[in-house]
Amino acid sequence: MEENSCNISDKGKSCCSAVGDNKIENLSAHWDNAYNNSLEEKLGWFETDLSPMLQLISKTGLEKSATILNAGAGSTTLIDTLIKNKFSNIIATDLSQVALNNLSARVGQEHLTCIVDDLTSPTELNTISPVDLWIDRAVLHFFTDEKDQKFYFDLINQKVTKGGFVILAEFNLEGAKKCSGLDVKRYSKEALSEKLGANFELIDSFNYIYQMPSGADRPYIYTLFRKNYTIS
Ligand SMILES: C[S@@+](CC[C@H](N)C(=O)[O-])C[C@H]1O[C@@H](n2cnc3c(N)ncnc32)[C@H](O)[C@@H]1O
Repeated sequence: MEENSCNISDKGKSCCSAVGDNKIENLSAHWDNAYNNSLEEKLGWFETDLSPMLQLISKTGLEKSATILNAGAGSTTLIDTLIKNKFSNIIATDLSQVALNNLSARVGQEHLTCIVDDLTSPTELNTISPVDLWIDRAVLHFFTDEKDQKFYFDLINQKVTKGGFVILAEFNLEGAKKCSGLDVKRYSKEALSEKLGANFELIDSFNYIYQMPSGADRPYIYTLFRKNYTIS
């Protein structure tokens, strides 16, 4: 098998040996520590202004009953706002059990399903039905390994319904090179389009400067894609 031709089902096999269980355990602990050791509103990605994301969600025109999956949701207040705005079918998934515990303790479980899983080596996520909207803010850019990126984009391709939407909000080309002590890969809208592939059409995109609780600026690229009804 060629170096870059693994599938999700190959994860952990010798062709994917760079990605072992240790790495996953360490990363889970890293993110659990981040959520355990800080007040939520002091986290370097905590948002008081959700307007760029809400603008793109509104552009989808989705019904309130649509299934929305927030990938690497952490304990984001976006979920509180979606529920307040009457969205009733939300999945939050993250590597960090601590983050998802904090989130569900805050918003309850009536409209929210929490799934602890690794987006680059999913187990339970493989079993979910296709979703209408996939949201990722500040998660994909941590996948610096090309194989992890491929697994993740394959998962998105599998789990977004035809005609469904994907919002990717990542550090842009002027963005920081690290976040939470980890290296990141920075993106342009063209690079995100290329990674998502021919089944997705770019609907909207803009640059946005997020201000961290410390006051430092973090430039992001926000993108909204729609999955074609006829896919290749
Ligand atoms: C910078 S935080 C962003 C959290 C949230 N999206 C937000 O905007 O507030 C990155 C999140 O990605 C999660 N994460 C990192 N690697 C992951 C992986 N391989 N699978 C699932 N979640 C992951 C972390 O636990 C963390 O909650």
